[in-house]
Amino acid sequence: MRQQGLLAIICLAGVLHVTTACPTGLAGEEVTSARCHYGTLPGGWLQTERRALLPEPADNSTHAVFPVWQPFCGKCQLKPLLTPYLAAADAETRGNSKDAHPLGLLLFGDSVDFRFVKYFCQSALGQEPSAFTVFDSGSEWLKLQGICKTPRMTIAKQHISAASLSGPYWADIDFSPLLAIPHGFEMFEKAHGRAPDVVSIASNFWDISREFAMGGMRIDGTILQQEFLPDDFMRHWMNNFTTILTYIKERVPEDTLLVYHTLHVPHQSADLGMWENDPFLSQHVKQLNAAGRHVAQSLHYHVIDIEAMAAQVSKGTLLVDNTHPGPDFMMQVLNVLLNMEQGHREALQAARKPASKLAGYLRWQQEKLSGHAIFKGHRRLR
Ligand SMILES: *[C@@H]1O[C@H](CO)[C@@H](O)[C@H](O)[C@H]1NC(C)=O
Ligand SMILES: *[C@@H]1O[C@H](CO)[C@@H](O)[C@H](O)[C@H]1NC(C)=O
Repeated sequence: MRQQGLLAIICLAGVLHVTTACPTGLAGEEVTSARCHYGTLPGGWLQTERRALLPEPADNSTHAVFPVWQPFCGKCQLKPLLTPYLAAADAETRGNSKDAHPLGLLLFGDSVDFRFVKYFCQSALGQEPSAFTVFDSGSEWLKLQGICKTPRMTIAKQHISAASLSGPYWADIDFSPLLAIPHGFEMFEKAHGRAPDVVSIASNFWDISREFAMGGMRIDGTILQQEFLPDDFMRHWMNNFTTILTYIKERVPEDTLLVYHTLHVPHQSADLGMWENDPFLSQHVKQLNAAGRHVAQSLHYHVIDIEAMAAQVSKGTLLVDNTHPGPDFMMQVLNVLLNMEQGHREALQAARKPASKLAGYLRWQQEKLSGHAIFKGHRRLR
């Protein structure tokens, strides 16, 4: 018995040793912090670290004991980078250097993305986001857009109505991506004074709504109760999403961090008035997540796999209604994004070091590294 215990300890030590060799996605690649793919590394919710990443809420209102997401990779532990951004009373801009500016985050997506802005604004400033773009939608009721500015961060959400380039869209809320995206950039630059440092995009729930949510009917009036999204739908979705992601890539400065995120599975509803009445909701969300990962990674976008993070949490813990995760979850995803942004900046700085100072092999490594994080080749800058 005792020997077995000892054996177990030795084996565990071996396992722990092995886990320090973390996956980088590239064979034979050493991990550096700039190389951690925080958004896709396998991880789990640590109950012993509860709230280590986020400040205790002033009241005990919501989710008081939500655990903390961490990758298992010992060299790629998430740091609590969100905390200083939430300290809104601190009126200094981030960084000490002369050219330090507030971090700019521009999000394109749906009402889940809006929650990043909403919960950040509530946590940092104790207020709701300000109006961002209106873009003649007549959709005030959906509260889909907003901007929140603190001395350290500008974060804004612009709506896109699915990956479809020309509609029709769910509930006739018409934010065609190829019109809404340039409008979002323009409004962001006006409000923030410069281009965003980080641009994130997601499209999934409204694509499903578009297929299913007209009282259980497809938008064309027929009923579609298929487990698998049709092949031609998937093909067209990927083509459309490729067009959208390529458009963004060509629109932003070269050192912008570009991010796609997958989505969690919402709570299924039998209510024909709710969009979550798709009988194969879980499958369809995952099918579109897979397609999104493929398009995003093909175009060298970074990925945050919200589906994987949410899969380990019950819907009761995760969601505040049928569709939307609560503040703890959303702010932890934002913290993942901030860690990615810091790693990206480190990678950029490393890549900018004068080439002469680097030995051949090292330089090759750096270039490979920057090749992932920075988009090379012709860019159409404004
Ligand atoms: C929060 O809950 C804890 C434990 O239930 C309690 O000790 C504490 O006083 C509460 N704090 C506030 C501000 O209500
Ligand atoms: C792709 O975009 C085209 C052009 O707007 C549209 O007709 C089609 O429905 C879209 N397909 C999907 C699956 O988004």
